[in-house]
Amino acid sequence: MRILSGIQPSGALHLGNYFGMMKPAIELQDKGQAFYFIANYHSMTTLVDPEKRRQYSIDVALDFLACGLDPQKTVFFRQSDVPEVPELTWILSTVTPMGLLERCHSYKDKKAKLAENDLEKVNHGLFAYPVLMAADILIYDSNIVPVGRDQQQHLEVTRDIAIKFNNIYGETFVIPEALIREEVAVIPGTDGQKMSKSYGNTIEIFLDEATARKKIMGIVMDSRSVQEPKPDADNNIAIQLLKFLAPPDVAKNYEDRLRAGGLGYAELKKALFKYYWEYFSEMRVKRAELEKNLDFVYEVLKKGAEKARVQASIVLKRARKVCGID
Ligand code: ADP
Ligand code: TRP
Repeated sequence: MRILSGIQPSGALHLGNYFGMMKPAIELQDKGQAFYFIANYHSMTTLVDPEKRRQYSIDVALDFLACGLDPQKTVFFRQSDVPEVPELTWILSTVTPMGLLERCHSYKDKKAKLAENDLEKVNHGLFAYPVLMAADILIYDSNIVPVGRDQQQHLEVTRDIAIKFNNIYGETFVIPEALIREEVAVIPGTDGQKMSKSYGNTIEIFLDEATARKKIMGIVMDSRSVQEPKPDADNNIAIQLLKFLAPPDVAKNYEDRLRAGGLGYAELKKALFKYYWEYFSEMRVKRAELEKNLDFVYEVLKKGAEKARVQASIVLKRARKVCGID
């Protein structure tokens, strides 16, 4: 079974990325042959700073390796190191109906936001984004694609494109399935909205102690007194995060104390900081070691790309043949 997923290098990874995507993806590396990559071409549709792209790409690689991605088990690479992908993207684009892309929420949302101030920024890459993603997936004969809920529609587009191509040119592509974990569907940010870079409400996985403490102590709370019982304790942002970061009985105890009244928000947030800091402590050490050994990280990505290309060229050859290019 081939498991594939990608993540854009668009900033330091946060708790939403970790619990929503990285942790499940890392757990899956024992369930089949995993291919994970850094989607640096996708990042070009929104990020135009080359230095940032370079830095974020290496940051994502460091974060994944520190968090337990095992390069012995998983093929880990950069999207751009597999030139077969953009070639397949073109082939797929010729069977992709415009309407299919026009209906994509992610494109419509980005277009609406950009159109308010600068219509010029609505580039073709943003529109064709799901076709590149389809090529990413189909080129490795992927069966399972673990993603967040926001990517579900893109997976449906991938399936539609694969089915259309197979109907026109004959059986070529494996039809993939999205794997969406309902239980970790949305991790809240410091303001209670979905944790996301675009909302500025993130708590990154790897922060220095002072910054982490400041972010956690800054989590938005209401103005009820310490003593007042809080029947909605399960909605509290710190409690929700604690459920991911602390042992279940500890999180439950804080929730019960908050519900009953008598637990102050400052004490709760201090506990959250403590468990957050401990949760990532080993990974923090690992990341610092990897950072001193960047050659190893580049080597992992290079070897990963070599393995990925072997598989990609098989599928690309198949596609070129059936459509009369070869
Ligand atoms: P951001 O919203 O910060 O830009 P991305 O869209 O780059 O994050 O998300 C990368 C991956 O992390 C996706 O698979 C996405 O579903 C997952 N993810 C991001 N934020 C969250 C969150 N708050 N809760 C759960 N999963 C998330
Ligand atoms: N679009 C995905 C995201 O923003 C990243 C991505 C690119 C991806 N290609 C992919 C995810 C292929 C899964 C499979 O999160």
